[in-house]
Formats: sequence, C-alpha cells, structure tokens
Amino acid sequence: MLYLSIVIIALTLIAALTIVIYTLKNGIPPMPTTRYLCDQTEKIVQKYQLPSGTAVEAGSGWGTLALYLGRRHPHLQFIGLENSPLPFLIARLLRLMLRRDNCRFLRTDMYRYDYRETNIVLCYLFAGAMRRFAPLFREQLPNGALVISIFFAIPGWTPVETYQCSDLYRTKIYVYKITNRTETHESQNTKIIAPK
Ligand SMILES: C[S@@+](CC[C@H](N)C(=O)[O-])C[C@H]1O[C@@H](n2cnc3c(N)ncnc32)[C@H](O)[C@@H]1O
Repeated sequence: MLYLSIVIIALTLIAALTIVIYTLKNGIPPMPTTRYLCDQTEKIVQKYQLPSGTAVEAGSGWGTLALYLGRRHPHLQFIGLENSPLPFLIARLLRLMLRRDNCRFLRTDMYRYDYRETNIVLCYLFAGAMRRFAPLFREQLPNGALVISIFFAIPGWTPVETYQCSDLYRTKIYVYKITNRTETHESQNTKIIAPK
C-alpha cells in the first residue's frame, strides 16, 4: 500500500513537472478555453458554414475547444496540435471517452506542422506565437482559409471581423480570411456578441 502511494505521488509530481517544463518552453500554460469562449468561437465557425474540411487547433491543450467544436460540427475534421505530454494524453483520452471520431490529437510542435490542407486554424495562444505564425500562415494556408484567434491578433494583418466578447476580459476574437491581399484587407467590423 505504501509502495503504491509512493508510485502515485511520484507520477503526480512528474506530471506536474512536465506541465511546468513545457509552460516555460512554450511561453504559455495549457489554460483551457472557457465554456463561454468555446461557445462564441462555435458561433463564428457556424457563421462561415463550411460544408466540410479540416480545422486545426494550434496548441490544443486538454482538447477543450477542439472537442467542443467537434461535437457541434461533425462534418468537419478537427486536428489538435499539442507538445505538452499530459494535456495531450488527456485530450486523447477524452476523445476516446466522448467518442469524438472527427477529432484527432497529434503530439507535435505546432510551428512544424504543414498547414497546406487546412481550412480553419484555431488559436488561443499568445502574442509571440501569432507573430511567428504570420509568415507561416501566409506561405502555407490555401486561399479562403480562416484563422480564428482568441485574444491575440496577428500583427500586420487586418481581420475580416473582430468580435468583442462580453466576458470579464472583454476578449476579442479575430477572424482572418486568407486572400491574395490579406495584409491590405480594408474592411474591419467589430461585432458585439451578447453574453449568454
Ligand atoms: C491556452 S492553451 C490552449 C488551450 C486549448 N484551447 C483548450 O481549450 O484546452 C495553449 C496551448 O498551446 C500549447 N503550445 C504552445 N506552444 C506550442 C508548440 N510549439 N507546439 C505545440 N503546442 C504548443 C501549450 O502547451 C498550451 O497547451
């Protein structure tokens, strides 16, 4: 019994340590998307009415957002990219338990993924990540693809829509559409989404 307790404590400590190490390495903790933000993001995905296609979440954490969207958009394939081992494993486990067959989670570095076949990129990241993604998305994403970024804008790009949420932080959700002239897009609408 004592032996089992020691093993459980050791495993818990190792799990906690991996979270700390990857948070320092990545520059962001695996903070799950709130239910409210999942819901607002879902409304945006809904609005664009893609009949089929692939949505990739760059930095999918525990899978909260991807699994939430996967349930409401069974016609889309969701791929979550996460390098932190524990959140990645939990996301995979949840996917199995919830039988979310249209969701997959890959343990990989989101900057090394090939986004050329992606129709929607979802991001809930940080300013540095969006800066790093700007040239990568410009180079790889196909025409018409959407980038939906919660909280952080892509520097130098003009969103086709900016949603202002009514949560505590007045979170903005930026929607970018890849066209040949992404950086010079002129329309910018700020939509107010009513709280639930
Ligand atoms: C704010 S969390 C996203 C949480 C997720 N949306 C959810 O609802 O659970 C950002 C995630 O990005 C991951 N991340 C940061 N840099 C990464 C990288 N280079 N490759 C893969 N994942 C990364 C972090 O580990 C973290 O889990």
